[in-house]
Amino acid sequence: MKILVVGSGGREHAIIWKLSQGKKAEKIFCAPGNGGIKDIAELVDIKADDIPGLLDFAKKNKIDLTVVGPEAPLVKGIADIFCKNGLKVFGPFKDVAMLEGSKVFSKNVMKKFGIATADFRVFDSPEAARKYLKETGAPIVIKADGLAAGKGVVIPKTIEEGLNAIDSIMVEKVFGDSGNKVIIEDCLEGEEASLLVFTDGKTIVPLESSQDHKRIFDNDKGPNTGGMGAYSPAPVVTEGIMEEAMKNVFRPMIYGLRKEGKIYKGVLYAGLMMTENGPMVLEFNVRFGDPETQAILPRLKSDLADIMLACAEGTLDKIDIKWEKSSCISVVCASKGYPDEYEKDKEIFGLEEAGKMNGAIVFHAGTKAKNGKIFTSGGRVLGVTSLGKDIKSAKTNVYKAVDCIKFEGMQYRKDIGDKAINKK
Ligand code: AMP
Ligand code: GLY
Repeated sequence: MKILVVGSGGREHAIIWKLSQGKKAEKIFCAPGNGGIKDIAELVDIKADDIPGLLDFAKKNKIDLTVVGPEAPLVKGIADIFCKNGLKVFGPFKDVAMLEGSKVFSKNVMKKFGIATADFRVFDSPEAARKYLKETGAPIVIKADGLAAGKGVVIPKTIEEGLNAIDSIMVEKVFGDSGNKVIIEDCLEGEEASLLVFTDGKTIVPLESSQDHKRIFDNDKGPNTGGMGAYSPAPVVTEGIMEEAMKNVFRPMIYGLRKEGKIYKGVLYAGLMMTENGPMVLEFNVRFGDPETQAILPRLKSDLADIMLACAEGTLDKIDIKWEKSSCISVVCASKGYPDEYEKDKEIFGLEEAGKMNGAIVFHAGTKAKNGKIFTSGGRVLGVTSLGKDIKSAKTNVYKAVDCIKFEGMQYRKDIGDKAINKK
């Protein structure tokens, strides 16, 4: 099978790494890829949201399956356009990709299907949003409606901070039209976890649980990032919670959409808050998480290509998905300055040595190859990943590998895994 993977992050590197280990994938292309992906797939110089360019490439090269990593092309309708052209896609159609593309759409669908989520109000004028904020007070959660590269959520501690957030989203339009509407919702308390399912719209199969670490510094301090590390499984997701999430979140969502004639195909990601009243949904994503994928897929025993093709073809009921019992941790190495403006073009040393540490895998994110060397090119640069018989040994293994890696200004969290270890 010839597979095209769209994207360029650590998530896509992990997907391609897993695909390349199976029997089904004979040839893998990645558009546009990065400095690490180039070793296991053929890079194609087409941007992830250039849908006409991707379509042209897929047709000319007779691609059997296109796997879409990031949300932007899905929200733009890549699955619909490819499907109309007779091409198979792992990733949902536009009408359901709006679960991530519009938080207002997503919250309204959750409300309609009775899925537990924070109480919310929607505002399309800054005056009304300001008035409501002054009435309710802080802490509260303010979210830009549309895509904002993971930066559209503000949790102000004071009314003043909240008013500033409303101004920057709705008046200054820092996220463009994504800020035409905002949601203001109750602040939930608890521990967060990520639960993902594979689905073809009929059969729903959960992946192993995972937990992301959004803040830049240890002990969840400092500003939010795209994610600084993850582990799988997440002990906070007990069997009971998993069942509850299937019964109260995923089945109502996927079967509810189906009843409306909207077939969800691909992976559906629920960011959950474990509250006193059970798991509540913070957000839906219509793609794999990054860096969760880097910690989940190394534990997958089955051929990922079989699973993805079955999701696209509607035959997921025929597939048996098996997992390793081990634990896995992925630690993100980021550039100096991230999550704000960051440094680039720093040479990275020690990649080979790191890869030799107890079978560690170094997934590349913001890297590029130049003259046989690898340089930083993004905020999140690498996801250093190790398995272990339990979370403690995964932690020992992963930090031995991280210690091998050096680039100027490298920052990383030293506590990925601790939350799970402390629960045991
Ligand atoms: P989202 O993009 O909706 O996942 O939001 C990003 C992050 O903001 C989440 O991972 C949470 O840490 C936090 N967050 C979002 N919604 C809420 C909420 N209602 N209560 C508390 N924290 C939230
Ligand atoms: N790790 C958070 C996300 O992928 O949205």
